[in-house]
Amino acid sequence: MNNSRIAVLASGTGSNVRAILQAAAAGSCPVETALVLSDKADAGALTIAKEAGVAQVLHITPKDYADRAAFDMACAEVIEAAGCHWVVLAGYMRILSEAFVQRFPQRIINIHPALLPAFPGADGAGDALRYGVKITGCTVHLVDEVLDGGPILAQQAVLVNDDDTRETLLNRLHTAEHQLYPATLARLVEQGFRLEGRRVIWRE
Ligand code: GAR
Repeated sequence: MNNSRIAVLASGTGSNVRAILQAAAAGSCPVETALVLSDKADAGALTIAKEAGVAQVLHITPKDYADRAAFDMACAEVIEAAGCHWVVLAGYMRILSEAFVQRFPQRIINIHPALLPAFPGADGAGDALRYGVKITGCTVHLVDEVLDGGPILAQQAVLVNDDDTRETLLNRLHTAEHQLYPATLARLVEQGFRLEGRRVIWRE
């Protein structure tokens, strides 16, 4: 399997999908996005992927499957058929079944808009703002069976301003994400890592 081939799973706007595709086109991120898949028919990520000429752009409807496990297995089949080494979650707002996670061990990557392990869950930016932290940021991590709990690949700090709203903070978090996600994918492909317990040690 070609370790530069990625499948991106996204539920929303798709700004991270765009950042990855742009970095790849610019030559700074040596990945080939073979597949973009969404659980939402109206996800902006699908439009962005189509416009960028991604080979396979798919919407799969969860309601067409008996349960989460069946839906996830259908997605896994498509990802494997496309020959993708990495499963890149970019605003994919579904909890993955254990069987899916185990099918791609240490090959599922997620980005989260907070400095994990602080503020896991669906609203990392809003939760950080309400808590009152002065520094937050974004985290790229491996996905394991614990929600937002896998080993950390990279983090970038973002300062919280006194006059921030959730929207202004999210804008700066997105800017950080768009830099950090492609850069981390590049390291995964070019450099690789090993795990020491939970610690990700990048190879020389
Ligand atoms: C990103 O900010 C990402 O960190 C977040 O969803 C957003 C998707 O934006 N993911 C999570 O909160 C996962 N828990 P995008 O659709 O513009 O890439």
